[in-house]
Amino acid sequence: MLLQVTAQNYKKSGYYLKGHTVIVVDVLRATSSIIWACRNGATKVIPAADPGEGASMAARMGGCLLAGERDGLKLPGFDLGNSPSEFTRDTVQGKTIVISTTNGTGAIRNMESAGNLLIGGMLNRTAVAKRAVELGNDIIIACAGTEGEFSADDILAAGCIASAIVSLTELDEQCDLTIVSRLVYESWKKGSMDIAATHHYRHLVEMGFIEDARFCLQEDVTDVVPVYNNGMIQPMA
Ligand code: MLT
Repeated sequence: MLLQVTAQNYKKSGYYLKGHTVIVVDVLRATSSIIWACRNGATKVIPAADPGEGASMAARMGGCLLAGERDGLKLPGFDLGNSPSEFTRDTVQGKTIVISTTNGTGAIRNMESAGNLLIGGMLNRTAVAKRAVELGNDIIIACAGTEGEFSADDILAAGCIASAIVSLTELDEQCDLTIVSRLVYESWKKGSMDIAATHHYRHLVEMGFIEDARFCLQEDVTDVVPVYNNGMIQPMA
């Protein structure tokens, strides 16, 4: 089994992705919010390419919640932003959510031709690692990054999931960024990497979302693994 980590905006042919299990990670905050929505009983989460597509999908379907952000803030007219704290059981149980975020939902859509597409974060690190290993294909951990750039928070989360994968199975090969992401994770665990100094974390703090940043960086809070199939994400049965 080959384990790859990609930094941002990963593009590969559908033919290549079909043979792979892809775990999309946007730890601050889109994939963490989606994991949390599924954990709290949302029946479906539909990632939209942009806010306009999200709004028209939600209008067409009726009865769903429209969520998303730009520059971290809830979009005008939307029901919810992109804070995991908004995706409570009271709000989302039994609901379909349509969501558009700056980087995370686009990264999910970019990977939609993968053989298996899982939604990962630190919140579900062991569960998503186990599921990916069980599927038996080569694995790509696809980081969303921030506006086309590498983002240290995603590399940390990728390393966190990659380390769980390595503890579950013997790999034939791992790419250089897998090795680097695992080192980032190990140094964060030892307290020698200050994630609070990194760009997206600082941006969230400036926007008043420090609790979200702390929440999303917790490990193994849930076993729920959201799975993308045919345009929608559902918690794995
Ligand atoms: C994104 O998709 O870019 C993020 O989740 C941004 C955010 O923190 O809301």
